[in-house]
Amino acid sequence: MERMLGRVLVIVPTYNERENLPAIVERVRAAVPEAHLLVADDNSPDGTGEIADRLAERDDHVHVLHRPGKQGLGAAYIAGFRWGLAEGYDVLVEMDADGSHQPEELPKLLRALSGGADLAIGSRYVPGGKVVNWPHSREFLSRGANVYTRMMLGVPVRDATAGFRAYRASTLEKIGLDDVDSQGYCFQVDLTLRTVRHGLRVAEVPITFVERTVGASKMSRSVITEALWRVTVWGVTGLPRRLSRTR
Ligand code: GDD
Ligand code: MN
Repeated sequence: MERMLGRVLVIVPTYNERENLPAIVERVRAAVPEAHLLVADDNSPDGTGEIADRLAERDDHVHVLHRPGKQGLGAAYIAGFRWGLAEGYDVLVEMDADGSHQPEELPKLLRALSGGADLAIGSRYVPGGKVVNWPHSREFLSRGANVYTRMMLGVPVRDATAGFRAYRASTLEKIGLDDVDSQGYCFQVDLTLRTVRHGLRVAEVPITFVERTVGASKMSRSVITEALWRVTVWGVTGLPRRLSRTR
């Protein structure tokens, strides 16, 4: 299955994930042994970058991208995608380091790509999808963000903010990464919108999202504010094309 898809790179962005990284790398290596891993670390003060270096030293399937400082999830992924495209990978996967995205569900995402999708999203909000151990307030925020996104942008996706997804390299090449400004988590919505607007195929695969047990979320007020204003701007500027399409 993976052979048909070509070479797979799983990109894991990290900021202060020292307790989580070794276990997640081990689980990815076991779940998809042919795939390579790229840790994109923003110079974590807790030493995650050095731990990543040590893991890379003893496993030629593990690579590390050191970035100078915390510049946001979106910026880390763009850098990771560029690295992967330059290295000639055919599939680029996004996955959190904290165990919320279960590596054991990776084959399911990859199968959706071999089935013809250009982007496979591991979705919490399609039938069969689940969230485990999230406080009500966080689930409310996430569901609300998805309702607002669908209303403003009209994208036919139930979980547009999901961070567990697999892109064909051709998808990223078509949508272009040069003018992506999103720094925080709205990066996920940004790339979903671009993929849909390019007429590419998005498949949502149900996953179980398990809230981290170690370390802290990097979700912040500024992440929420950025998402809110960007989605609003995309919605308003995209309105003429949506109206002309429905006519
Ligand atoms: N390099 C880098 N730089 N990594 C980052 C940064 C950053 O600025 N911010 C967060 N990360 C990493 C974390 O270390 C973790 O591996 C992953 O990105 C996700 O961060 P979390 O802080 O654990 O996210 P979350 O659990 O609150 O949010 C999840 O849900 C969001 C909304 O549905 C994630 O899956 C997001 O991708 C998703 O958008
Ligand atoms: Mn998390």
